[in-house]
Amino acid sequence: MTIKGDQLYELGWLTIQDMSSLHPSFDNLPEDKYAEKRLRSRRYSCYRHNADGSVTKLSQKDFMQSSNINKHVGDVERKYEPLDPSLETNPVFLKMFEEFRERTNLSENSAIEVHQIRWHCAKRVKIPAPEGVHQDGFDYIGMFMVNSHNIDGGELMIYPSPDEAPLLVKQLEPGEFMILNDKRLFHYAAPLVPRPNKDEGYWDLIILTANEALQSA
Ligand SMILES: [Fe+2]
Repeated sequence: MTIKGDQLYELGWLTIQDMSSLHPSFDNLPEDKYAEKRLRSRRYSCYRHNADGSVTKLSQKDFMQSSNINKHVGDVERKYEPLDPSLETNPVFLKMFEEFRERTNLSENSAIEVHQIRWHCAKRVKIPAPEGVHQDGFDYIGMFMVNSHNIDGGELMIYPSPDEAPLLVKQLEPGEFMILNDKRLFHYAAPLVPRPNKDEGYWDLIILTANEALQSA
């Protein structure tokens, strides 16, 4: 199970790099009540990515990770509001599925889960991944950077194991993505650091995840 050849992760750029059409959908994300207060806001939906490039929304479900995977909020059924339906015809959003499926060889029937997350960062440093160096419990994860406003830090890091030095440390730019094999690699994100004398900072990502065994039909 690799990304391509024997590669376990891949970096890339979306062919459409103007992310502005996605920005309004980040402005009304409900607070993630399963995280530290004012750490992040979030929506969650599941889709199937069709051969013609469209997506079909799958029925809404709760999101749960086992406590073996997530020491922070494992074994908790997390209820999130679905993504804005207008995203389903947004060309940038659709490109993310295309890149994700092409690089992972996921079948058309695969169920792809999508987390739309804004991390908030004003006045003090925030730890975006309080669970530490971790896996998410999927076969593949795709992290797509949409916007980074008035913050520094937040480098994404990939590790062969939690005890080893990172293989990669990379601050993603808007339009850039990282797709990785979540069974073989671990990941983390460096602290978010607010810039002084600025309005509230935020960090917007869309994260796609999939398991080969999880089929939509
Ligand atoms: Fe993660």
